[in-house]
Amino acid sequence: MNVQQALAARISANKFDTAHELTPEEVEALVAAAMEAPSAFNIQHARFLVVRDPAARAALQQVAYGQQKVRDAAATFVVLGDTRGAERLPLIAERSREAGLLDAAGAAGFAAKGQDAYAGKPAFAREEAIRSASMAAMALMLAATERGLASGPMIGFDPEALRREFHIDERYLPVMMIAVGRAAPGNWPRKPRLQPGEALVDDARPGLTHAFS
Ligand SMILES: Cc1cc2nc3c(=O)[nH]c(=O)nc-3n(C[C@H](O)[C@H](O)[C@H](O)COP(=O)(O)O)c2cc1C
Repeated sequence: MNVQQALAARISANKFDTAHELTPEEVEALVAAAMEAPSAFNIQHARFLVVRDPAARAALQQVAYGQQKVRDAAATFVVLGDTRGAERLPLIAERSREAGLLDAAGAAGFAAKGQDAYAGKPAFAREEAIRSASMAAMALMLAATERGLASGPMIGFDPEALRREFHIDERYLPVMMIAVGRAAPGNWPRKPRLQPGEALVDDARPGLTHAFS
């Protein structure tokens, strides 16, 4: 399956095979794929809590306003964004130095530049966490599709209840949940999309008014 096929095949599933389980290796492979996504300054803001124990799924279902897929799917990935990810830039830069991409001065400069970008700007850091974790979430869903697995992204949950129930530090922002498992019969077919021309202004120029149809 190529990327275009995975993009076209993915649907947001509601119905999951309740007998299906994911192996720890599959969970790890999906997270590895998610971590291939780009992130601002390569901060890699995304973190994942994977809920698969039946009682834990039932608790998470309550947090998700009763959404049945959280109970039924083999696992639900709670995608979190690290709002203080920039604090880890020295470590990120060091990994690039070890990989031979930066020398010591370059690594120090890169870390300082990144940390500067977010200093005193908590709203920007929060937006960045959402942006970068969302890219990771899409990568995870495409990887699931390639493996023949269904996925269902969700923002329908109570973030405060989630924090309380799963003891999530305030540093980590709940970005979305993704139910993952084997599809059961009864899912919606793929929904129509806007045509590119409805979402696109090609060859935009400064000073011109750009309207979407
Ligand atoms: C960020 C985000 C949050 C969503 N939240 C929910 C949700 O809480 N419950 C749900 O049933 N679907 C949810 N959806 C699924 C959308 O309804 C679905 O992606 C959209 O209708 C397009 O359908 P498709 O993904 O099957 O192409 C969410 C999707 C996204 C991207």
